[in-house]
This record gives sequence, C-alpha cells and structure tokens, in this order.
Amino acid sequence: MLFDPRPKSSRKELFDREKQLEVLDRSVGKPLILVLGIRRIGKSSLLLSFLEEWRGVYIDLRGVRNTADLYRKTSEGLTGSLTKLKDALKGVSGVKIAGIEVTLKWRGVDSISLPRLIEQLSKKETVVFILDEIQMLRPPLSYELKNTIAYAYDNVPNCTFVLSGSQIGLLKDFVGVNNPESPLFGRYYTEVHVERFTGEQSREFLEKGFGELKQRVDQSVIEKGVALFDGIPGWLVHYGMSHIERKNHDEILQIAVNTARNELLKLNQREKQVAKAIANGAESWSSVRRLVEEMSGEIIPRSTLTRTIRALEKLSIIQDYRFLDPVYQVAAKLL
Ligand SMILES: Nc1ncnc2c1ncn2[C@@H]1O[C@H](COP(=O)(O)OP(=O)(O)OP(=O)(O)O)[C@@H](O)[C@H]1O
Ligand SMILES: [Mg+2]
Repeated sequence: MLFDPRPKSSRKELFDREKQLEVLDRSVGKPLILVLGIRRIGKSSLLLSFLEEWRGVYIDLRGVRNTADLYRKTSEGLTGSLTKLKDALKGVSGVKIAGIEVTLKWRGVDSISLPRLIEQLSKKETVVFILDEIQMLRPPLSYELKNTIAYAYDNVPNCTFVLSGSQIGLLKDFVGVNNPESPLFGRYYTEVHVERFTGEQSREFLEKGFGELKQRVDQSVIEKGVALFDGIPGWLVHYGMSHIERKNHDEILQIAVNTARNELLKLNQREKQVAKAIANGAESWSSVRRLVEEMSGEIIPRSTLTRTIRALEKLSIIQDYRFLDPVYQVAAKLL
C-alpha cells in the first residue's frame, strides 16, 4: 500500500526510483556506495527494495549508542536476511541461530568481531552491507565501524558497503575521503542521490495511493497536497493517509509542522536562531546576522555565524539560505 507509513521493502511496492535501483544494481561488487537524501525522501525504502534481490544485510543505526546496540541491530539485520545467509552463518562461532532469530556474541570466548563476520559472510558469494543513518554514530563506535569498513574495503573482495543518511554533509564527513585522519581517506565511492518527486510524480503518487484504497477525491485535494509537500514522499504519505482518516487540511499541516518542529528542537540555541531567521526570509549572511542579532539582543561573532550556517547545511536543513523541506521552514518560524 503506497500510503503505508513504514519504509517500502519490495521493488513492486516502490514508486519510481528505477534509475537509482539501476545504479545500485550495477554497483554491487564495488566496495563503497553512498546513498544520500534528505529526511522522508525514501532512502530506506530504496535500500530495502534494492536488497530484495541481493544477498546482504540491512542495519538501521538510528539510536545506536553503544556496542550492545550495534550488535543488537546487526543481529536484527541478520535475522531479517536469515534465509539468504543461513548457510554462511551456520557453525560460525559467536553466531547463534535460534529458530528464525540470529544473535551475536561480541565479547569473551566464542565471540565474533564485525570484520570476521564480514569475512564469513563473503567467503563464497558477494554480500551487501547496508548501513542506514550511519552518520548518527558517535566515537568510539564511529571509529570502530569506519575502521571495519576500511579493512573490508582493502581486504575483503566480495563485499559491498552501502552507507546512507539524511544528514548529507555529516555523512560525507563521517566517510571523510578528503580527511587524511579518516581511515577511509582517499577511497573511491559511488554516490546515489535520492531526489524529491516532480510535481507530476507527486500527483501520480497521490492518485495511485487514493486509488489503491478505492477513495475518490477531488482534483483540488491532490493539487493541495502536491503544492504543500514539494515532492517529499514521506509527507505525501502523511497527507494521503490523514485525508483518508477525514482530517481537514489545517490539521494535516499542523501535524506535519509539529513533527518537524520536534525534530528542529534538537538543534542548539544558535542553530535554532539561524534557522528561524532564514525561515523568516533572511537570504544572505548579513541579513541572517541582522535578524539573529535583533532576535537575540546580542552581537554574534562572525565565525560563530558562519559555522552555524555550515552546520545547518551539513544537517541538510538548509542550502544557499533556503530550506530543503517546506514543512521545516514553517516549523522553524515557530522555534
Ligand atoms: N519510492 C517510494 N515509493 C513508495 N513509497 C515511498 C517511496 N519513498 C518513500 N516512500 C514512503 O515515504 C515514507 C518515508 O520513506 P522512507 O522511510 O523510506 O524515507 P527515508 O528517507 O528513509 O526517511 P528518514 O530520513 O526519516 O529515514 C514511507 O512511508 C515510505 O513508505
Ligand atoms: Mg530512513
């Protein structure tokens, strides 16, 4: 069902994205691929649908704070792909298969390290490791994982890593191919960009979604959704589903704005002020400075302002003094 709020997991369910799937399919066998796109644009849906036809693991790293979290998520990923990976996992020390569930042991006797797990899985056939929202990891886990990826890049020929994240600048910093300090310095990778739908595609997406649920809606309903959500599938799903639940237009927008606002509340004070200034129309460095200083009643050091704008860009919230998501812009005014 197109209006299902969960990520799609099969190519049959996926709307569009043929181009991206083709690049991904063609790139299996290469060591490193980056899949980039803002929040709700459909990265996880693309990755899961891609994996449908390959032997591999999907690991969602959102919320991973320590080693236990990392191995739990990896265990869940392996459980999800058990039918494809069973033969390679059977009898490996540190890996337990209980019914349909895989669990890993990472410390003590009979434990398994990530590099060894990767080697085991790619012994005979190519394996694809998909690591979603990897930029969220903090040290020391982020170093550990980067070292593991670098090790596999150099030493494990049958292994493809796909790294994905909604904070594009942070994801690129995480990989650090331009940073001599990074274990992945100088490594080549393939980039896949997940873009927003065009107006035409958004229209088709909504019509198809309502059609699947046998709902007849006015063309004006479709047009309002297209205009409001700028081709971001996650919001289009929210719009379609809320409309079916008989919510009115204002309510639908309100819920989306609240969701976005809660996400923006995680920013620090300066970032919030800068986001708010840009949301209110500041389109240049000096007009942002003027508005932020007016709002906060204090003088902002030049370097602080430049750094804060760059931070918002790395989080994929703004680019060239514009919001990448119109809902975020409305929400930022309310900060
Ligand atoms: N190509 C698509 N076809 C059908 N539905 C899609 C597509 N892309 C995204 N969706 C839907 O939009 C919503 C958001 O998609 P998804 O979770 O894949 O995006 P995401 O980029 O991973 O989001 P986040 O940044 O929040 O992790 C889900 O309901 C998903 O089913
Ligand atoms: Mg996702």
